[in-house]
Amino acid sequence: MAAMHDPTPAIDLDNLAAGYNRVPVFSGVTGSFRPGSLTAIVGPNGGGKTTLAKAIAGVLPPLAGQVRFSGKRRAGRVGYLAQRVDLARGFPISVFDVVALGLWRDVGGFAAVTKPYRDRVEAALEQVGLVDAASRDIADLSGGQFQRVLFARLIAQDAPIILLDEPFSAVDRETTSRLIELVAQWYGAGRTVIVVLHDVGMVRAFFPEALIMRGRLVDWGPTEQVLADQDHASVEHGVDADLMRELSTALAGKKETGS
Ligand SMILES: Nc1ncnc2c1ncn2[C@@H]1O[C@H](COP(=O)(O)OP(=O)(O)OP(=O)(O)O)[C@@H](O)[C@H]1O
Ligand SMILES: [Mg+2]
Repeated sequence: MAAMHDPTPAIDLDNLAAGYNRVPVFSGVTGSFRPGSLTAIVGPNGGGKTTLAKAIAGVLPPLAGQVRFSGKRRAGRVGYLAQRVDLARGFPISVFDVVALGLWRDVGGFAAVTKPYRDRVEAALEQVGLVDAASRDIADLSGGQFQRVLFARLIAQDAPIILLDEPFSAVDRETTSRLIELVAQWYGAGRTVIVVLHDVGMVRAFFPEALIMRGRLVDWGPTEQVLADQDHASVEHGVDADLMRELSTALAGKKETGS
C-alpha cells in the first residue's frame, strides 16, 4: 500500500485563518495532528468545522497562516470526503467510475485504468459491500449506498491522511457500523484520521483526540479533557446502545491488531 512507503505526515496548523469572500470564519488556529492520530472535530452548526476541514484538505486556500504537512507546504495526500450537502450527484456516472476517480493521481485518466487498477476498484467495492453495484448509475443509489461508494473511493485512493466531514449523517445503523469499521482500519494501519461529527457520545467512545470549533478554536487535545467542562447540549445526540456495543467491539478489535 502506498501509505506504507511514505511515513504519515503530521499536519501542522500555523496561525491559520480561513473563510469566504475574504471574511474569516475563524483565525489564529494553531496546533498539530500527530501522525497516526484519530481526531474528532466537533461544534455547533456554523461553528467552522467544514471550513477547517476544507482548509486542511486544500480545497479552500487559507486567508492567513498555513497548513503544513511535516513541515512541507505542499499538501500531503489527503483522502477527503466532503459533507453531503456539498456533494452533487446529478450527473450520469457509474459506481465503478466514481471509485476509479480515487485512483486518478496514480492512473492519470480513465483510458489507463488497466487490470491492476480495476482490481483495486473491485477490492474497494468489496470492502463496502457494493461489488454487485459496480455498473449502476450513482444517481440511482440510496443516500447510504452512495456514502459507501465514497468510502470505496477513499479506500482506492489509499491516502495517508483521511479527512471525513460528517460521514455518518443520514446513514442507517448497519452502514454506520460498517463505515466506522473502515475508519478503525485506517487508524489501525497508522493513518492520520480526522472526522467531523455531531455525535458527542460517539466521540467520547471512539476518538482519542477532539477539537472543538465554535467560531474559533475552543479546545484541542485528549477527548476526556476537551469534553470535560464543555456544554454540548446544542450538539449532543443520543446514541443507540446496541450500536455503541457493535462499534466498540469493531474498534477494540482494530486497535489491538493495528498497533
Ligand atoms: N461557501 C460559503 N460562502 C460563504 N459563507 C459560507 C460558505 N460556507 C460556509 N459559510 C459560512 O461559514 C460559517 C461556518 O460554516 P461551516 O460550514 O464551516 O460550519 P460547520 O461547523 O461545518 O456547520 P455544520 O455543522 O452545519 O456543517 C457559517 O457562518 C457559514 O454560513
Ligand atoms: Mg459542516
